[in-house]
Amino acid sequence: MEVWPGRLPPAPVDLHAACRDADGLLCLLTDRVDAALLEAAPRLRAVSVFAVGVDNVDLAAATARGIQVGHTPGVLTETTADLAFGLLLTTARRIGESERDVRSGRWPAWSPGAYLGEEVHGATLGIVGLGRIGSAVARRAAGFGMEVIHTNRSGGLPLEQLLERSDFVSLHVPLTAETRGLIGEAELGRMKPTAVLVNTARGELVDTDALVAALRHGPIAAAGLDVTDPEPLPPDHPLLAADNVVITPHIGSASRRTRELMADMAVDNLLAALRGERMPHLANPEVADRLTGN
Ligand code: DGY
Repeated sequence: MEVWPGRLPPAPVDLHAACRDADGLLCLLTDRVDAALLEAAPRLRAVSVFAVGVDNVDLAAATARGIQVGHTPGVLTETTADLAFGLLLTTARRIGESERDVRSGRWPAWSPGAYLGEEVHGATLGIVGLGRIGSAVARRAAGFGMEVIHTNRSGGLPLEQLLERSDFVSLHVPLTAETRGLIGEAELGRMKPTAVLVNTARGELVDTDALVAALRHGPIAAAGLDVTDPEPLPPDHPLLAADNVVITPHIGSASRRTRELMADMAVDNLLAALRGERMPHLANPEVADRLTGN
């Protein structure tokens, strides 16, 4: 077993070198497992991703080579939904901005007009992607008396209508070729001037330049982001200069318990494939049909 010792992810050249003779790879969402890497790793038969999202892996190329790709669905659902709701509240009620002012000695005298935000109770929440995490966010919203509307693959509202009707929009779709750039200038333009965008899914779902412009000059009021494009943001990035955005460093699943469960799942996936069995949580099930000859 070879463990990457660095604090930062390996550069592609290092990852390629480490995988040259490997039978299995347990990787993070920051490791790009593309066709070139698979080409450079002829023995590889298992890629286990320590995440539910597998957008860092070229699934088609892995499937074509008969490589199982594992992921960690389910165990991070509630934890990620907690953070999405936390960002929604923090952004709506300007908790980040006002807390920063308190810390920096700019605590203003109480006044009727200071730090006015948006009401969460009774508001309309638009969930883009009512899958596991989106549904968990909807359950939290019910406790706040929110009206929940949604899009999903098999029904719900068209995205345009959801954007026009929602006070809060929370993104819960995987990053794919179809969803990359899902929220751009036109989509932001449909949102209410008081609306808040929450993204705990993947940064690339949103056009960052369009979001920066929308936060600066309208049409939207604020954003709560656990994921960004690029990630991490460079210190001089314009998003960091905006007061009406709250940004956390991709910590949606970061509770002690959830990360332990994710680690166990990732290891179980890897070991199963190395034993020649089907991974318990397989992201490319087509490959297992091939294993069993179906
Ligand atoms: C995932 O699992 O895809 C999250 O982004 C990290 O937990």
